[in-house]
Amino acid sequence: MKTIGFIGAGHIGSQLARLAVARGYKAVVSNSRGPETLAELAAELGPNARAASVEEAARAGDIVVVTIPLKNIKSVPAAPLAGKIVIDTNNYYPQRDGHIPELDNESTTTAELLQRHLPASKVVKAFNYIYAAELTTHGQPAGSKNRRALVIAGDDPSAKQTVAHLIDQFGFDTVDAGALKEGWRIQRDTPGYGPRRTAEELRKDLQSARRYAEMNA
Ligand SMILES: NC(=O)c1ccc[n+]([C@@H]2O[C@H](COP(=O)([O-])OP(=O)(O)OC[C@H]3O[C@@H](n4cnc5c(N)ncnc54)[C@H](OP(=O)(O)O)[C@@H]3O)[C@@H](O)[C@H]2O)c1
Repeated sequence: MKTIGFIGAGHIGSQLARLAVARGYKAVVSNSRGPETLAELAAELGPNARAASVEEAARAGDIVVVTIPLKNIKSVPAAPLAGKIVIDTNNYYPQRDGHIPELDNESTTTAELLQRHLPASKVVKAFNYIYAAELTTHGQPAGSKNRRALVIAGDDPSAKQTVAHLIDQFGFDTVDAGALKEGWRIQRDTPGYGPRRTAEELRKDLQSARRYAEMNA
C-alpha cells in the first residue's frame, strides 16, 4: 500500500487525505503546529492515516503533497523529499503571501519556486484551483459523460503520469498544460481557475489564458 504524505492539512490537504484513504492509500498528515493538533482529522481518516511532524510526513510519503500558504514554502524540508514526486497545490495571493517580485513580474511560476527550493524532487502542479469542497463531491468514475478534468504541469513526464493516475483514481480526467513554467495558464484570474470544466473545455481555457500584464494593459 502506497503512502501519501501531506505538508499542510487545511482545506485542501484534509480533502485530499480523505480521497487518499478512500482510494486505498495510507495518509500521513502534518501542519505547522504539530501532530497533536490534527488528532481529530487523523481519527476521522481512520486506521490507514496518522498525524506526524512535517519531517516525518515528508519521509513517509511515496508521494508528498505540499499544500500550505505559498509564503511558507521555504520551510518545507528538502532532504526527505529528494527523489520523490511532490505535488504542489499552492497559489500566489499577495495579500496573504506578501509581494514576491518574480511572480509579480511573471518571470517564474509558483511551482517553479517550489521546484527551485526542492531541486532533487519531481514537482508536479495539481489541485491548485479546484475548491476544496469539490474534491470530494465532483469526482466521477473514469469514462463518465462530462467528467470534470483537472490541470497538471510538470517537468518530469513519468512523475506527471503517476499524478495523472492518482487524479483518475480520485475521480477526474487530466489535462497536461506542459512544463512547470506553463503553470501560469491556470493561475488565479485565468479562465480555467475555479469552474467545473471537462478536458475539452479546459484545453480551450489554457489556450485563451493571458498574462496579468496583458490583462491589465
Ligand atoms: N482552499 C481552496 O479551495 C484552495 C484550492 C486550491 C488551492 N489552494 C491553495 O492550496 C494551499 C493550501 O490552501 P488551503 O485552503 O488548504 O489552506 P488552509 O486551509 O489555510 O490550510 C493551510 C495548511 O497549511 C499548514 N501550514 C501552514 N504553514 C505551514 C508550514 N510552514 N509547514 C507545514 N504546514 C503549514 C496549516 O497548518 P497550521 O494551521 O498548523 O499552520 C494548514 O494545515 C494554498 O496555497 C492555497 O492557495 C486552496
